[in-house]
Amino acid sequence: MQVQLKVNGRATTVDAAPNTLLVQALREHLKLTGTHVGCDTAQCGACTVLMNGKAVKSCNLLVAQAAGSEVSTIEGLAAPDGTLHPMQAAFKECHGLQCGFCTTGMVMSAVDLCKRHPDASESQVREALEGNLCRCTGYQNIVKAVVQGAAAMK
Ligand code: FES
Ligand code: FES
Repeated sequence: MQVQLKVNGRATTVDAAPNTLLVQALREHLKLTGTHVGCDTAQCGACTVLMNGKAVKSCNLLVAQAAGSEVSTIEGLAAPDGTLHPMQAAFKECHGLQCGFCTTGMVMSAVDLCKRHPDASESQVREALEGNLCRCTGYQNIVKAVVQGAAAMK
């Protein structure tokens, strides 16, 4: 089947089997491998992307469910000249990552949170990131990064 959607601002058609997951379409059809697969069961958040501006777990959606939507992945966050998005810059400055496996999902969830709650408190950040697991950092610097990124996004 052919699914039409916008990915990172560009109109795209994905030619895929009906059971293709959104994350498979992104990684395997469109080669946007910044979106990771950690658990494949909607638990870890590594596959988080924005669909119509809202954070979703792309391992938990068929690409057909994204038909007509605007999907944003980590590859679409930085400016065309390579300038990092304020949330990416905050993760870099605050050392909000170690191995980086969870990072793209964390950043996408954080962008969604901070758009909805520009003044998110530390406890709101912790609650919002409940669905994003990190096996390396202990979360402290991730939370610091999101708070700093939120301020920079205003
Ligand atoms: Fe989607 Fe873990 S790979 S939530
Ligand atoms: Fe390694 Fe989060 S930085 S899983």
